[in-house]
Amino acid sequence: MEVIIVETPLDGAKEAFDIFTRVKEQDGKVYGLATGSTPIELYKLLVASELDFSDCVSVNLDEYVGLAGDDEHSYRYFMNEQLFHAKPFKESFVPDGLAPEDTEIARYEQVLADNPIDLQLLGLGSNAHIGFNEPGTDFSERTHKVHLTESTINANKRFFANEEDVPRYAYSMGPASIMDAKEVVLMAFGEGKAQAVKDMIEGEVTPEVPASILQNHEHVTIIIDQAAAQLLA
Ligand code: F6R
Repeated sequence: MEVIIVETPLDGAKEAFDIFTRVKEQDGKVYGLATGSTPIELYKLLVASELDFSDCVSVNLDEYVGLAGDDEHSYRYFMNEQLFHAKPFKESFVPDGLAPEDTEIARYEQVLADNPIDLQLLGLGSNAHIGFNEPGTDFSERTHKVHLTESTINANKRFFANEEDVPRYAYSMGPASIMDAKEVVLMAFGEGKAQAVKDMIEGEVTPEVPASILQNHEHVTIIIDQAAAQLLA
């Protein structure tokens, strides 16, 4: 794991942008993408850049079950707004929140088999989740349906009018699907992520800390600000 500590989240986004630029120059064709607040500055940099993804494929980590792609709370909608409308990819895959579990999981695993990820972008939950892989998720899990924890529902309610509106389930790539990516870049900013960052980097590799599996990946860059780094030894 390479750990880069930056002054501000914008500096972190620039570091991640440089990695995207390098992978693009190396002819990387498949980009695994994340939603949430963490990657927004990076997506702005990508949109403002000359980088051309029109011959590339994107594969998103997750989607809420029960939300249509045109629902403004869906991750498909978020990606369209933050990135795809301004910076189109040849194809952009996001799990279909309205599709039944068995067919959608099989479809998404086929998408991943057909499009091996060159660079996977991740955020980090304050409970150390990656994607929607909550603590306790088996590391061998591939795309699956997840029952969201109270802490994740709490963290995500800021995007909804009421907490009851936050979906309780999501489809998510599993830890094993994420580990298949050739390269991973994870960003985490703010003191609310500090314990998760410490557990991910310095703790035991255990399903109780989903992001700790990244210690076993051969090409990972962790980009954090001082606040998120404050508990590191
Ligand atoms: C989003 C995702 C999540 C987020 C994580 C951090 O697609 O898979 O794991 O990356 O919850 O969210 P933010 O960036 O909002 O703090």
